[in-house]
Amino acid sequence: MEISILTICYLVGSISFILGLKMLSNPAKARTGNRIAALGMTIAILATIFLYRDEEGNRLHNHAWIFGGLLIGGIIGTLAAKKVKMTAMPEMVSLFNGMGGACAALISIVEYDHLVKPALKVLSYAEQNDTEFSFSIDLSTMPVIILGLIIGSISFAGSIIAWGKLNGKIKDFSFPGQHIANLTLLAIILALGVWLWFDPIAAPRFYLIFALAILYGVMFVLPIGGADMPVVISLLNSFTGVAAACGGFLYNNKAMLTGGILVGAAGTLLTILMCKAMNRSLKNVLIGSFGGASNGGASGVKSQGNYKEISLSDAAVLLTYAHKVMIVPGYGLAVAQAQHVCHELEKILENRGVEVDYAIHPVAGRMPGHMNVLLAEADVPYDKLKEMEQANDEFGTTDVVLILGANDVVNPAAKTDPSSPIYGMPILEVEKAKNVIVNKRSMKPGYAGIENELFFQPKTSMLFGDAKKALQDLIAEIKQL
Ligand code: TAP
Repeated sequence: MEISILTICYLVGSISFILGLKMLSNPAKARTGNRIAALGMTIAILATIFLYRDEEGNRLHNHAWIFGGLLIGGIIGTLAAKKVKMTAMPEMVSLFNGMGGACAALISIVEYDHLVKPALKVLSYAEQNDTEFSFSIDLSTMPVIILGLIIGSISFAGSIIAWGKLNGKIKDFSFPGQHIANLTLLAIILALGVWLWFDPIAAPRFYLIFALAILYGVMFVLPIGGADMPVVISLLNSFTGVAAACGGFLYNNKAMLTGGILVGAAGTLLTILMCKAMNRSLKNVLIGSFGGASNGGASGVKSQGNYKEISLSDAAVLLTYAHKVMIVPGYGLAVAQAQHVCHELEKILENRGVEVDYAIHPVAGRMPGHMNVLLAEADVPYDKLKEMEQANDEFGTTDVVLILGANDVVNPAAKTDPSSPIYGMPILEVEKAKNVIVNKRSMKPGYAGIENELFFQPKTSMLFGDAKKALQDLIAEIKQL
């Protein structure tokens, strides 16, 4: 009876994960989706704690340890999630993902111990008593234990390095031939893994694999440009999913298995989508230097001529007397936390009869859906957010494009300069509009470290300043008109 209730709980958990994931693709339903998946996870966890029985019929008994861990982890997680700034979200995701990888690796360590301990006892007894011995060991779970150990350890170490890079504590590091060294290390780990599978009573080899997988995780992420971390984090996220699925397989826990597979699949898809939106292959992200230290600064920037500045009052006039304005939000808007004041500008302009929409580039900002989340925070209506293709169709009939802290996603070099690192990336074709106003603090480049010829075009005017302050001043000017 209890087993069937447990199975139903796992089914409810699994359905809630799928439902939650589906709802996350819609900004209006994302919060509810998250809550549904969290509720499903709570049901699955509680069901495991109170209803699970092992093959001998034993229940989990160490409740103090379990609930102590849940309490400490829950408090830390809640505080961290409440404190984190939106722009630091990839960092936190990376750290939490690393914890997931570590859990998967620990499961493998514990299960390896369970599997080989009886055999080791027989072995030591036989040695002490100088007797013949025989034992049988079920090797069917061995590949899963080894896989969970390798993938979980790589994910843990890689995620911690990614976290350190994103918060600036760890710098990019590479040496000539590093990719070959990495591939060799991976081949050694896999070879040792296969050997251990067929000859499992070898604890030193098991821990050697563990240590080498940690080393590989560090070496794999260290050379990747800091700005490419969101793609790498998404990839590591999928690794953790697969490692957790290994744990689900070992414990015959369907909810853990489904959850792991969903995370693995979603992480892989997200990685592919991010690469596509930047028009880069995963190989290029992993072994290329785009966004890395080599071209991250202004060093590779070549000057394109003169740019024109616009005063606040002129910008206010241009916006107020336009029929149609398209706002292009970017990373700088998120840094300035100017989403609320941006929404206020939108409402003021609309009250004056101006049609205002937002053009959303899929990789604007620093994480998938960054601009959608940012604008949703300020209660901007979803129907005002135009996806890239639709926005590109509408720029031709737009009077003023107001770019707020965006740079690469409006850089025409992506279409015109085959030598540019962003060549081929689909961009917002803002130059089709009658006027373009760009708000940023300086002429410094964005994420890709390259200059933007848009800023030097005759129809473009620069409105320098922090996005929040510039928008507040702009609103004050418009109110006086
Ligand atoms: P960026 O190209 O990074 O440009 C952001 C601009 O914002 C900078 O040029 C900066 O110029 C300006 N800025 C910074 N702080 C500001 C502030 N307080 N007020 C006003 N402006 C400010 O951003 P984007 O156009 O959003 O493009 C995103 C880039 O990130 C793309 O290259 C994309 O490939 C990459 N990327 C995105 C993702 C995802 S999933 N979104 C993942 C990985 C990589 P100043 O310093 O002069 O102010």
